[in-house]
Amino acid sequence: MQVFQEVIAQSPQEWIDIVLSNFDDFLRDHADNERKASSMAMSFIAKYPNRVEIIPELIRIALEELEHFQQVYDIMEKRGVELTHSIGKDVYMEQLIKSCRNGRDERFMDRLLIASVVESRGRERFKKVAAALKDTELGEFYKNLWIEESRHANVFVEMANIYFDNDEVLARLDYWNNRESEIFVGLEVRACLH
Ligand SMILES: [Fe+2]
Ligand SMILES: [Fe+2]
Repeated sequence: MQVFQEVIAQSPQEWIDIVLSNFDDFLRDHADNERKASSMAMSFIAKYPNRVEIIPELIRIALEELEHFQQVYDIMEKRGVELTHSIGKDVYMEQLIKSCRNGRDERFMDRLLIASVVESRGRERFKKVAAALKDTELGEFYKNLWIEESRHANVFVEMANIYFDNDEVLARLDYWNNRESEIFVGLEVRACLH
């Protein structure tokens, strides 16, 4: 089932301009995000080992994100760009997680839907980067990425649909899309994914 929802707040042209003129910084931040996305999928497994229905898909996502990390790192290595030495606060993720509900099930649903809206944001940004890049090889790389992140955005919603009422999931996804956009527009415009 196609459940993908487009992000509400679109990235401004100013952001694309900053990314293109500071592409090495963007790559550094992008690599960190792929690494974190892989760990996040694995931490779902650690936190919810009895949710057996979603474990195979979480393993697949963790592997795909790790592969994305490997691909970004390869590009960085060729360009002589090093990974970030100190990892700063992730204001975007912190604010999203702060809006999670507290009950065990509510929190589980919220964490899945946050993962989905973050993937949707990745899709939106990678798609814009792919369209703006002059280098066709890099452009092709970002195009493949946005297609995969788009699939991830759907899969996390499908996971929530296994355990919760589908109308309730859709309503909550709507809430998260709105909340994500509120947080997103408050962020500083930098050569970063968020
Ligand atoms: Fe990824
Ligand atoms: Fe992803």
